Amino acid sequence: MLPPTAHLLITGGAGFLGSHLADRWLAQGGAVTLLDDLSAGASADAVDARTGGRARLVVGSVLDEGLVGELVARTDGVAHLAAVVGVERVVREPARTLEVGTRGGQVVLAAALAHRRPVLVVSSSEVYGPESSGTYCEDDPLALVSPERARGTYAVSKLHTESLALALHRERGLPAVVARLFNTSGPRQGPASGMVLPRFVGAALAGEPLVVHGDGSQRRVFCHVLDAVDALVRLLSRQEARGGLFNVGGRDEVSMAALAELVRERLGSASQIRFCPVPKERGDPRDDTRRRVPDLARIRRAVGWEPTRDLGALVEDLAAEFRPSR
Ligand SMILES: NC(=O)c1ccc[n+]([C@@H]2O[C@H](COP(=O)([O-])OP(=O)(O)OC[C@H]3O[C@@H](n4cnc5c(N)ncnc54)[C@H](O)[C@@H]3O)[C@@H](O)[C@H]2O)c1
Repeated sequence: MLPPTAHLLITGGAGFLGSHLADRWLAQGGAVTLLDDLSAGASADAVDARTGGRARLVVGSVLDEGLVGELVARTDGVAHLAAVVGVERVVREPARTLEVGTRGGQVVLAAALAHRRPVLVVSSSEVYGPESSGTYCEDDPLALVSPERARGTYAVSKLHTESLALALHRERGLPAVVARLFNTSGPRQGPASGMVLPRFVGAALAGEPLVVHGDGSQRRVFCHVLDAVDALVRLLSRQEARGGLFNVGGRDEVSMAALAELVRERLGSASQIRFCPVPKERGDPRDDTRRRVPDLARIRRAVGWEPTRDLGALVEDLAAEFRPSR
């Protein structure tokens, strides 16, 4: 949909995935504008330092219709990543999660429609819900978490924006594509993100216990952020992807107990592995699925994408960032 030298607007562009997408888009000769309200803690100076000023950062919200309209008009296409991310943050701020997720999605998609700009919506495997299936395909039925519990607000907001993007594509010809990301990790994702891999790697390097929530039998895959960004770029660039919805995820399925062991061994750490009940800050454990693994056949067929980096490389790349430089 977009040529490599196009000017891309990345909402949530100061965040973990957005910053890697910006690097990749700049590296291929494109121009980048980032829209981020910095609510997840990034600093404008750090963003400027990282991109050498080559990406323009606009500090503002996707809820600001005037600003979003102006930025969409001035750019060639949009990658919409802005969201409240992380289970603990979602459980603490369910109303903001819904507002940014649903209204933010409406504002971005309305602007893309008004200016006829291609748009990539970044969604999440959380939409598959807490029921464990085998391997998730894009057209599988979805399960919802009760609104009595806060965690479900994230999936509802993601599902809303996915649905709206595809409906606008069908009804009004909006050039939209949706990526459903499974767990993605890599450099720049600090332990404060609450994500399990940076937590384990940080603890293993500090000689502190690796804390596994629950019995450690939950199974996941992890995608290296550079692989995930490659998938996003293909979906943004290829005409064949338009109007589609695609899983994007890793390939090495692993239980959380085995992951803790792998991190400890790979980093030569003497840290203990400790099993603890799921902290209440993470909401009701029933809302967390036992197994979440993507079927990647659809994206492989459409744009030839497959993850290339294994779990060991992912652990090494995370550790390289945490180790003090010599
Ligand atoms: N990291 C993962 O494993 C994963 C998995 C599935 C989906 N995703 C999705 O990928 C996208 C990026 O996630 P991430 O891991 O980089 O998280 P992140 O928190 O690092 O990035 C999200 C960014 O959005 C910004 N933001 C929040 N509210 C905003 C608003 N109102 N206006 C403008 N910016 C706002 C935050 O400041 C942050 O920089 C999100 O849409 C997330 O739902 C991530």
